[in-house]
Amino acid sequence: MHIDNSTVVLGIESSCDETAAAIVMGGNDVLSSVVSSQIDIHAKFGGVVPEVASRAHLELMQPVINEAIQLAGIGAERINAVATTIGPGLIGALLVGVSAGKAMAYGLGVPFIGVNHLEAHLYAALLEEPHLPFPAVVLLVSGGNTLLVHMTAPGEYSLLGATIDDAAGEAFDKIARFLDIGYPGGPAIDAAAQLGNPQSIEFPRAMLHDGLDFSFSGLKTSVINYVRKNPDVASHDIAASFQCAVVDVLVIKTLRAAQQVGAKSIVLGGGVAANSLLRSEMQRVGSGAGFHVALPSKAMCTDNAAMIASAGWYRLRDHGPSGLDIGAIPHLSLTGSTVRGNRGERK
Ligand code: KG4
Repeated sequence: MHIDNSTVVLGIESSCDETAAAIVMGGNDVLSSVVSSQIDIHAKFGGVVPEVASRAHLELMQPVINEAIQLAGIGAERINAVATTIGPGLIGALLVGVSAGKAMAYGLGVPFIGVNHLEAHLYAALLEEPHLPFPAVVLLVSGGNTLLVHMTAPGEYSLLGATIDDAAGEAFDKIARFLDIGYPGGPAIDAAAQLGNPQSIEFPRAMLHDGLDFSFSGLKTSVINYVRKNPDVASHDIAASFQCAVVDVLVIKTLRAAQQVGAKSIVLGGGVAANSLLRSEMQRVGSGAGFHVALPSKAMCTDNAAMIASAGWYRLRDHGPSGLDIGAIPHLSLTGSTVRGNRGERK
């Protein structure tokens, strides 16, 4: 099959708590992107309940796909391939998307492409900046992952560093739950921190001078111990000081990685990349050190299917389609192996 700028890919995403579908042409031209979030459904539980997520995906999947096709202003017969997240993620949630994607591909008689969700996050910046200068260092920070990736071209990347315990988003979510300031935790801490003093409490910056890996579980314990000893401290000050400790480590290590590999660009991706302090500090420090800093829009940072369709286009062009016998892989890592301890088992 010939893949070019007119090749239209339907992307499908259902790895966690967003049911999403998008139509992307030629790898970068987003014709439509529909995201139906389940935040309200899970809010009363304080976290994503896997079984509830799977059932919600089942109900939402077909209407979301239909809406994406309708908004793109095309007929289904114009779709040349179907790309779907196969992992990492919650097994039941993934299976809904994978089954829908395969059924669509089979029904339309077009190729099916299984997409690694983490790889797709690397393509999100390219959707808004197709001429991004390479090589780039991507900081991928979400609820299940904290990764530093060296990307030399679309599809060519290697892992530079990762968290050895909690992901950054997981730390945000757990501290917000502990402080009881709202769900989901990241945006709640971000909002509370606007009202607090980031210098009020000096929380630890773990492994700051030590390589490119991260650790956030000690920081989480330190915040909890501090609040237990000082119950009257304002939660805005805790939120601001905690956020500042996380952002300091993320920015310093990303800059170190970019300098080490001689990158031209620094790119943010993943849900935590929507954090306002992380965005402003990465922009200030990164461009101050001479790097091009790409900050995808918040809609492109969080889970969406446009990035799945984009990654699918590149994968189809460079590696061809996947077999219809491919399954959902909950513990898929960025490099294709299956690992434990990532977003598939976090909640
Ligand atoms: O990439 P993503 O949408 O999906 C999963 O990992 O499932 O990331 C979600 C994570 C959550 O941990 C959420 O609290 C965090 O991203 N997040 C934020 C912000 N917005 C979302 N963390 C910090 N500040 C934010 N503004």
